Amino acid sequence: MRARVDRIYCNMTDLTNKRILLGISGGIAAYKSPDIVRRLRERGFEVRVAMTRAACEFVTPLTFQAVSGKSVHTHLLDASAEAAMGHIELARWADTVLIAPATADYLAKLAHGIADDLLSTLCLATTSPIVVAPAMNRQMWDAEATRENVAVLKARGVTFLGPGDGSQACGEVGPGRMLEPADISALIAARYNCDKLRGLKVMVTAGATREALDPVRFISNQSSGKMGYAVANAAAEAGARVILVSGPTSLEAPLGVDRVCVNSAQEMFAAVMQRVGESQIFIGAAAVSDYAPKEYAEQKLKKSKDRMTIELVKTRDILAEVAAMDHAPFTVGFAAETDDVETYARDKLRKKSLDMIAANLVGVPGSGFGSDENALSVYWSGGAEELELAPKLHLARRLIGIVADRYREKHSAQNS
Ligand code: C5P
Repeated sequence: MRARVDRIYCNMTDLTNKRILLGISGGIAAYKSPDIVRRLRERGFEVRVAMTRAACEFVTPLTFQAVSGKSVHTHLLDASAEAAMGHIELARWADTVLIAPATADYLAKLAHGIADDLLSTLCLATTSPIVVAPAMNRQMWDAEATRENVAVLKARGVTFLGPGDGSQACGEVGPGRMLEPADISALIAARYNCDKLRGLKVMVTAGATREALDPVRFISNQSSGKMGYAVANAAAEAGARVILVSGPTSLEAPLGVDRVCVNSAQEMFAAVMQRVGESQIFIGAAAVSDYAPKEYAEQKLKKSKDRMTIELVKTRDILAEVAAMDHAPFTVGFAAETDDVETYARDKLRKKSLDMIAANLVGVPGSGFGSDENALSVYWSGGAEELELAPKLHLARRLIGIVADRYREKHSAQNS
């Protein structure tokens, strides 16, 4: 089954202002829509739900209230709901209106500007982009009336996510399936960053390095590489061409990212220096070993004496050397601190001549090394932003949004 994803219209909405009004129309695919709410919220979106009367026949408003954490909007003429947040207010509140599922009937309503229930009224009243995820029987999708409605809506700038191809609730096989909730939420998220780094090359380092002692032993650290991979992923989503220089990890390379695999700090240094000249942005998220064994034993070290001393020598600081280059890219470092995060991070920002540093407090349960979540404090000269505990990909998207803004600010200052 291959989903057909129409072109996404990009808008440059502020990442801190992500409010999705999810409209549910009455199709069987509505049973998947609570998962869309959950996934959008995981990505940091605020979601409010408006349901048609038919949608309430498939899934109860209570389900959406539970997953969205907000009361659900169902009636246009409900005085108490209007008093809490009226339909015009709701239409203004949303910065994207997503209808998933969008039935054939709903597409027809939208195309003709009918406003006979709350959701269709909201669609007419909003000035925000409308995105629809159609879901219907393949004949209905193929019907001339639907095709004409789709053409009208596309011409007006409505974005279509899907439909996908595959088996349908009616037993038929063909186009008309609603895209999966994970795909819908990823495509919605991508709208917010897309094009922010279009035309730029970004290099990201990620993961731990391994400093070999002998053919079987090495010195390394706990870094999983997840944060660096999430940053590479978010930069690619934002339209950049991304080179990921990665230490050993079990993670898969994100889609659309060129990965260069290395082992040691020395190899990472060489891989970075060979290619960084073409990059406009360099993000050092790798946990590079600060020291490496002075000697490498060609044969496995044997157990003999009670004590053994290994002499270590400092590795080269990749990030600092990139920042010190002539025509250095916009450089972003990471700092893992156990205390007084701002003082140490700002000190590193200055000493390494970085443009920005993202610092996290290590040793906090549930965040940092190996975990799927993290929290970051981002500092640059003259500014700071706190990114609260969230899944690493969500954090990475916010970080990339900040990097893109600061990069452009630096460039417009240089050019003026
Ligand atoms: O000085 P410290 O190791 O705390 O700085 C961390 C930052 O420096 C990270 O961004 C890391 O990727 C980078 N770094 C580097 N090369 C090293 C050591 C650290 O690029 N040898």
